[in-house]
Amino acid sequence: MSEAMRNLAFLRTNQAYVAERLPVTGRMPAWLEGTLVRNGPGQMQVGERRFRHWFDGFAMLHAFSFANGSVSYTGKFLETRARAEAEAEGRITFTEFATDPCRSLFARAMALFTHRVTDNAKVSIGHFADRFLAMTETAIQVEFDPETLKRVGVFTYEDAEVGQMTTAHPHIVDGAMYNVVTRFGPASQVRAYRVDASLRRERLASVGVSKPSYMHSFAITPNYLIVTAFPFVVNPLALLLWLRPFIENFAWEPQRGTPILVFDRHTGRLVGRHEAEPFFGFHHVNAFERGSELVLDIVAYPDADIVTHYYLERLTAPDLRLPHGRLTRFTVPLEGGSVRSEVLSEACIELPRIDYEGYNMRPEQRYVYGIGLQPGGEGGFYDQLIKIDTQSGSTRTWHAPECFPGEPVFVPAPERRGEDDGVLLSVVLDAADGRSFLLVLDAHDLQEVARATLPQALMIGFHGAFVPSDPGSAS
Ligand code: CO
Repeated sequence: MSEAMRNLAFLRTNQAYVAERLPVTGRMPAWLEGTLVRNGPGQMQVGERRFRHWFDGFAMLHAFSFANGSVSYTGKFLETRARAEAEAEGRITFTEFATDPCRSLFARAMALFTHRVTDNAKVSIGHFADRFLAMTETAIQVEFDPETLKRVGVFTYEDAEVGQMTTAHPHIVDGAMYNVVTRFGPASQVRAYRVDASLRRERLASVGVSKPSYMHSFAITPNYLIVTAFPFVVNPLALLLWLRPFIENFAWEPQRGTPILVFDRHTGRLVGRHEAEPFFGFHHVNAFERGSELVLDIVAYPDADIVTHYYLERLTAPDLRLPHGRLTRFTVPLEGGSVRSEVLSEACIELPRIDYEGYNMRPEQRYVYGIGLQPGGEGGFYDQLIKIDTQSGSTRTWHAPECFPGEPVFVPAPERRGEDDGVLLSVVLDAADGRSFLLVLDAHDLQEVARATLPQALMIGFHGAFVPSDPGSAS
């Protein structure tokens, strides 16, 4: 990885920016109308101190709006207490994923129940009940206006802010939003929540755990909510003492295997507890029911080493070798028997996406899109977009010299003729050019359709959402 790439992708601070019309090459599809909103770190440095991990930086929102073949862009830092205080005081004052403020040992004691929870919601974007949420793994999700990107308010699953972790990947199905919350304490619990369109929160399920797992996502099917308890676990007493940054309290304990907890999605009752081999993952991709079996597709790793590879010191090292996530299918027999696993493709994949609106929970879902590493490369950071056909195991890719693409978001064509009839939208960092561009690919063959170039490079972000224009509104 070049020096320029390291600096642009992870270290330099983004500038807030508004452009009414980005220069476009190729032809934007005339039918592409709506807004892609993306989230991720935009700033890694406060005063003399740098955040330590990719998951630490201050959230920046990016909105790309498509209309009549042109693209406008608004980039703005999420308005948070965490960043406002850091800017005012010139130092990091809130605890992030792998970076703590400098504190005395005394101030650390009982930090879990006394520290202030960061509202730096930098991971993903949720669109639910006409609201837009910037989401992260702490209790506080920040609501924003999709046009101005200004803060509107906050949303929490539980009233207390402290002592809990949630996933940045709620499921939105049947008009409700589901998420999993872990409560840390002497008696830790994993809880499932359902939120209705008026934002009424209902606790569906609650189960005790002695050592909670680090969980970034979970799975849902028409009848079940499934929690994959990876054996990357924490002794909650360690979080009470808070001697190390949050994630450094977790340890890999493969002897625990990977418990898979199956809840009835409608009643919240725990209906099954199965065990898979020890493995780790950030992202569940899709899940469905097949007879008396549950099928879970997950980007799986043999262990949790990937978390430490995302420290900036590692990410920017010339000899970076990222562990490869692999799309893996876990089959859970609900009536008993062992969990089976099968690697669907040997290709490296991360930040996986499917056509969620069209195919989530459906057994016929076939295509998975993501970022990956070119085979035979020299290592370094994710440098290609990949599409995996889960039926044949075959792949298609897009890559270009010195280009580092972000998560691809699928947008279906109107009156589509198949699952992959549409486009993929990805923000690509062109390290040679020193700028980023919004890339539009044909989702069928991953050929370039068009690109819109930004005036600056954007740091490598995480997740986004595409929201079609309201067909009723005047354009
Ligand atoms: Co994620």
